[in-house]
Amino acid sequence: MAVPKVRRQSGAARIVARDLMARLGHPPEAIPRTRGEPPCWPVGLVGALAHDSDFAVAAVSKTGRYRGIGIDIEPDLPLPPGLEADISTPQELARYTPDLLSSRLLLVIKEAVYKAVNPMDGIPLGFQDVNVDIGDMTCCTTSGWTVSIKTVTSPVICALAVLDNA
Ligand SMILES: CC(C)(COP(=O)(O)OP(=O)(O)OC[C@H]1O[C@@H](n2cnc3c(N)ncnc32)[C@H](O)[C@@H]1OP(=O)(O)O)[C@@H](O)C(=O)NCCC(=O)NCCS
Repeated sequence: MAVPKVRRQSGAARIVARDLMARLGHPPEAIPRTRGEPPCWPVGLVGALAHDSDFAVAAVSKTGRYRGIGIDIEPDLPLPPGLEADISTPQELARYTPDLLSSRLLLVIKEAVYKAVNPMDGIPLGFQDVNVDIGDMTCCTTSGWTVSIKTVTSPVICALAVLDNA
């Protein structure tokens, strides 16, 4: 059944997050799940979770370091055919190689960016609202945020998006 499976994945991401909280010297408090919403982080912490059927990841920081954090993962598989123009902006389509555009990298980056900024302003963003600059590893959103990113592409595609406190 799908629902218990998702709950297990969600729980796995929370195990990772509580381990990170402990490394930050924070007691292992619960991270309540809110349906279709950002998780509820303990006071003083900011973070993000992502999970699929094989992997669960989390990123956690003290609020003094970052204002917002997002993380996302996807299998290292090509996008379903025909989705490039939905995921990529016209600038990205003009700028990046076919290999990059047909991978899931921009999708993963944009979902990580969404998770970093949406809890702060509640503004819904679509894929066309985020422009990714792979050269300087930043993204700009139509809602006015500039977010730094880090990525890995093996064994899964994973992106971390952080919004500095400065
Ligand atoms: C939030 C969203 C990106 C999650 O992506 P997903 O592939 O379904 O699932 P993931 O495993 O990557 O992430 C799930 C986790 O995201 C977190 N999350 C959900 N909504 C969130 C939000 N608005 N802000 C930050 N984090 C959120 C939750 O922690 C959730 O896990 P949980 O239910 O166990 O607590 C997606 O559900 C969504 O709302 N998309 C619409 C916006 C969008 O994608 N725009 C295009 C990119 S800009």
